[in-house]
Amino acid sequence: MKTLIKNIKELVQVEETPRLKVCGKDMASIKTIKNAYLIIDGDKILSFGTMDSLQEQTFDKEIDATGRMVFPSFCDSHTHLIYAGSREIEYIDKIKGLSYEEIAQRGGGILNSAKRLQQATEDELYDDAMQRLNEIIAYGTGAVEIKSGYGLTTEAEMKMLRVIRRLKENSPLTIKSTLLGAHGVPMEYRGRQGEFVDVVINEMIPQAAAEGLADYIDVFCDKGFFTVDETARMLEAGAKYGMRPKIHANEMACSGGVQVGVKYNALSCDHLEFVEDAEIEAFLNSECMPTVLPGAAFFLNMQLSPVRKMMNAGLPVAMASDFNPGSSPSGNMQLIMSFACVNYRMTPEEAINATTINSGYAMGVSDVLGSIAVGKKANLYITKPIPSYEYMPYSYGNNKVETVVLNGKVIK
Ligand code: NIG
Ligand code: FE
Repeated sequence: MKTLIKNIKELVQVEETPRLKVCGKDMASIKTIKNAYLIIDGDKILSFGTMDSLQEQTFDKEIDATGRMVFPSFCDSHTHLIYAGSREIEYIDKIKGLSYEEIAQRGGGILNSAKRLQQATEDELYDDAMQRLNEIIAYGTGAVEIKSGYGLTTEAEMKMLRVIRRLKENSPLTIKSTLLGAHGVPMEYRGRQGEFVDVVINEMIPQAAAEGLADYIDVFCDKGFFTVDETARMLEAGAKYGMRPKIHANEMACSGGVQVGVKYNALSCDHLEFVEDAEIEAFLNSECMPTVLPGAAFFLNMQLSPVRKMMNAGLPVAMASDFNPGSSPSGNMQLIMSFACVNYRMTPEEAINATTINSGYAMGVSDVLGSIAVGKKANLYITKPIPSYEYMPYSYGNNKVETVVLNGKVIK
């Protein structure tokens, strides 16, 4: 099956020589082709170029994109989109002045979600999550990482991971799964946190591995959550089963999370509101993608990650939605680009690199997704008629995506 998309006003984020990530100053540029065509063969990108170089041939399907732009789909490398019930009551508490940590300390937050998730059936969780996946597809996401972490018992964590497996089987999205057994300490383990860490190590990790349920392992390594030593123990246990870390770090403080993540060859360290020179140094000597979650920083009104400083130091930066009921109840990656530009003073080009190729790297898929390149998977979207690619982050809060192509097929 060959599909032609023709008369594309501008084909955005094109790569002749594909890279796995884009670092430092290189983040400031993207390649585009004006008045372009793109040919899809099966589920892959076959070729692209300017309209005047398009050779006469027949296609099974033609799409006229006059006035519209084509972008590679977003890669959303950090979400918790399997959950039971929303948490707007805590949202009100936060407005009235309680901090995220205070809410967590009194059994709200992650523990609140865990209580509800433990009671939900696998089918309920699956149906809700599938609906959320369909929502983010419509906003242009083509790949998503999904974490467990609202189970907090071995049984409920495995339930979450099995839901992710079903989503992988049935959704057109490219999905990666992460075991986040150490997301919070259950009430009954308060004061004996080490024993809960043992449960993660002795039960959750081996069971997830035995069923092949987790691509990655995550730990919430931060002040008030898991310590560096506990994190090291869990990452070491995960490594024995080939689970590479993608960790939550430095949201509350310079907690040593980045350093321990880098030590265990993390694919990404995420949040990063607190980053000093030592963290930058650690990232520079690593293959780890610094990943910022602008939705959570916005929603919790937190101090912002020093993104410019990291890029000036030569680091790559990725951005993801953190879609979850507590700190970022939205998976809209177009909005994440707007936050990138307005709050972090990134240019539209930097925001595009952060949410496509670099976030693709942060979930281990940038070899096949994250840019328009020959041989890559045809996950892309066609915009509504828009004046420029800068319009994407500029025009915030509304959906500029008109047509979605995943695995070479038009699905919206
Ligand atoms: O990434 N920071 C840790 N975990 C999630 C929030 C989870 C929640 O509050 O439910 C996050 O922001
Ligand atoms: Fe998160």
